[in-house]
Amino acid sequence: MGNETESVIDHYTRHNLMQRIRDALRSAGHDPENPTREMLAELDHLHGGGFTTTETQVVLAEIPKGCHVLDAGCGIGGPSRFLAGQHGCTVEGIDLTPEYIDVATQLNEMVGLDDKISLSVGSVTELPYDNERFDAVLCQNVSMNVSDKETLFCEAFRVLKPGGIYTISHIAEGPNAPPIYPLPWARTSDGSFLETPERILMLLKQAGFEAIEDRAATAPSQPGGGPQPGTIGAVPAMGDDMPERTGNSARSIEEGRLVAMMVVAHRPL
Ligand SMILES: C[S@@+](CC[C@H](N)C(=O)[O-])C[C@H]1O[C@@H](n2cnc3c(N)ncnc32)[C@H](O)[C@@H]1O
Repeated sequence: MGNETESVIDHYTRHNLMQRIRDALRSAGHDPENPTREMLAELDHLHGGGFTTTETQVVLAEIPKGCHVLDAGCGIGGPSRFLAGQHGCTVEGIDLTPEYIDVATQLNEMVGLDDKISLSVGSVTELPYDNERFDAVLCQNVSMNVSDKETLFCEAFRVLKPGGIYTISHIAEGPNAPPIYPLPWARTSDGSFLETPERILMLLKQAGFEAIEDRAATAPSQPGGGPQPGTIGAVPAMGDDMPERTGNSARSIEEGRLVAMMVVAHRPL
């Protein structure tokens, strides 16, 4: 296992995640043994704006209802469950962190979506899927942990059908870099691979994508901020220091140290 893989797994592994989720659900007044998809949505979308950002991104990217989607870097499966449970999609999810895939699998079973979502442990830079398999690939707040963005984008392109949609939320380096650490995806600069917005768009073009647009400015919720008010948020999955880390992310965006992107791109027909 390479250093980058090990440090991602170390950063995201909680060791007792299922128990943390049960405790958080109970504290919020929910029955932890019988959660609904809506209850889980308070804590299982691991990016700024939570569930609302996922909903916005799916609408902005115009992911068709009922299509076949890859959730690339699926975390504990909140976006996959939204796509399967609310948008009627068949979903495959892949993530590097074994504990996240284990918990996501249990949560899918608890809400009765295990027949519509299948999950694997693996890397977005080495996808275990045939060419031209998916109608859409969703990749939310994963690419900041991936140094080899050429391969990340080429793999997404390869598994998309001609005409398929790639949508990626990414936090890029701003004109006033460096950002303030610790951040949600990395506690130091060692595990953080940002690039400028211009370079992200150029690498997508180089991978073969067309009609590439950054729609972050039109998104009502920003992928870099904290959780939706009144929800549990990402503390159970991401760690007890998340308020400090999301605060640093929001402040870094305000100060132009970071730039939140929500890109939609297409594989040509
Ligand atoms: C901030 S979380 C976002 C999870 C999910 N996309 C969401 O928005 O709820 C980042 C995720 O990226 C995963 N990740 C990082 N590098 C990866 C890689 N090379 N391949 C697959 N997953 C990766 C981590 O394990 C973690 O689950």
